[in-house]
Amino acid sequence: MSKLIAPSILSGNFAHLSKDIEMLNKSNADSIHVDIMDGVFVPNISFGFPVLKAIKKLASKPLDVHLMIIQPERYISRFKEAGADTLIVHFEACRHLHNTIQAIKQEGMLAGVAINPHTPINNLEAIIKDIDQLLIMSVNPGFGGQKLIEHTYRKVELARDLIQRSHVKTIIGLDGGVNLTNAPQLIAAGADLLVSGSYIFRSDNPSKTISDFKAL
Ligand code: DX5
Ligand code: ZN
Repeated sequence: MSKLIAPSILSGNFAHLSKDIEMLNKSNADSIHVDIMDGVFVPNISFGFPVLKAIKKLASKPLDVHLMIIQPERYISRFKEAGADTLIVHFEACRHLHNTIQAIKQEGMLAGVAINPHTPINNLEAIIKDIDQLLIMSVNPGFGGQKLIEHTYRKVELARDLIQRSHVKTIIGLDGGVNLTNAPQLIAAGADLLVSGSYIFRSDNPSKTISDFKAL
């Protein structure tokens, strides 16, 4: 079965978002990855609710909203209202992660948890069965266009092992520095979903690049 591909709109052209979203709507992408950064959890600021709402109006694919913000539990219902289908919070940003995951599900969204490169997979033992998507960061979050950290492959294998041992259906996503060269190895290690930003949007034919990912 082909893997899920979620292009990251962070690498889109913000002056012509509608053009990029139209391209994604017509492409073979499974969902659209939307990065929200607060300038505190990560050293960058992206955009907030008004832009997310505008994206939602145009998009015909589900939105995976990746929150790189502190205390994301403050905004769960507002992200639902703004159009998130899957809401992804950071393990490192949540004091009561179990609670936050339940609150996301109660709002009718799928719950995702992202982990930074320094966070070990075994920290998820107690929570994996509650998560719909585990997003393994393959770069330090904050910026598109970085290089994938090599240790990521091992983490994907460990996540796959944890998921199998736990008899759950959590999907494993990869975010940061993903391209057509490293994707086969990530898939072989156990990735189900690939997020890719700069590699897709900087390619000559983004729609074809998405199809090339799907063909792997
Ligand atoms: C990084 C973001 C990523 C980013 C990926 O902090 O979470 O989703 O947009 O972009 P690339 O594929 O360029 O690394
Ligand atoms: Zn992201």
